[in-house]
Amino acid sequence: MRRKLVAGNWKLNGTLAGVERLAEGIRAGAQTVSAADIVVCPTFVHIPKVAGLLADTSVAWGAQDVSDQDEGAYTGEVAAPMLVELGCRYAIVGHSERRILYGEDDALVARKFLAARRAGLIPILCVGELLDERESGITEQVVGRQLDAVLEAAGETGLAGSVIAYEPVWAIGTGRTGGPEQAQEVHAFIRARIAARDGTIAERIRILHGGSVKGSNAAELFAMEDVDGGLIGGASLKAEEFLTICRAAS
Ligand code: 13P
Repeated sequence: MRRKLVAGNWKLNGTLAGVERLAEGIRAGAQTVSAADIVVCPTFVHIPKVAGLLADTSVAWGAQDVSDQDEGAYTGEVAAPMLVELGCRYAIVGHSERRILYGEDDALVARKFLAARRAGLIPILCVGELLDERESGITEQVVGRQLDAVLEAAGETGLAGSVIAYEPVWAIGTGRTGGPEQAQEVHAFIRARIAARDGTIAERIRILHGGSVKGSNAAELFAMEDVDGGLIGGASLKAEEFLTICRAAS
């Protein structure tokens, strides 16, 4: 039985004061969520503040991205060992906004995944197709390619214990979802692809759903066999709504 996980991706949002209010709100309600793991991913600069507020709770924190390099002359990058020093347990890699807006390709995403693992972070690997890719019927081809790039680099044992997030790009921030059955289809495809390499690892790995997940649709998504929780954007910016989603996973 896989324990559910709900991760909040706060993206490029928040002031120090706003982030403090949000973390305090989550802290206050977190004990009402017993059967799911919770993680929040603030911007890099807000991590120390959030770490201080959540240190004595069951809520973990992570980063939205991580460098593929461990140290050196890489201006603007943030390395996985630095995140570990701040108590991060997770790092999102390959979010579609990084892939599309900042040109991250499968090879770079795979290197970031490896960098996170080297430092002992749990990568949350994001995969997902564009709208025209879905409409052209190549969703599995795209998601399979994104997954294989990491499988080739890390091997199936390198994938073990990590988290995968399937986020159809057309569902992100649009209020549109394909519904639970359509989500389940792709989640099952991802698990089967991993199972072709190693059945036990596939059975244990958590596959989150992302893209317009909110309090009102979380329970039906999380009820699907291969949906092990959610990666939440907009709805993670309000403590009560985020906690409602976390409770839906319980
Ligand atoms: P929304 O929940 O705002 O659609 O964003 C999803 C997402 O991109 C999480 O990583």
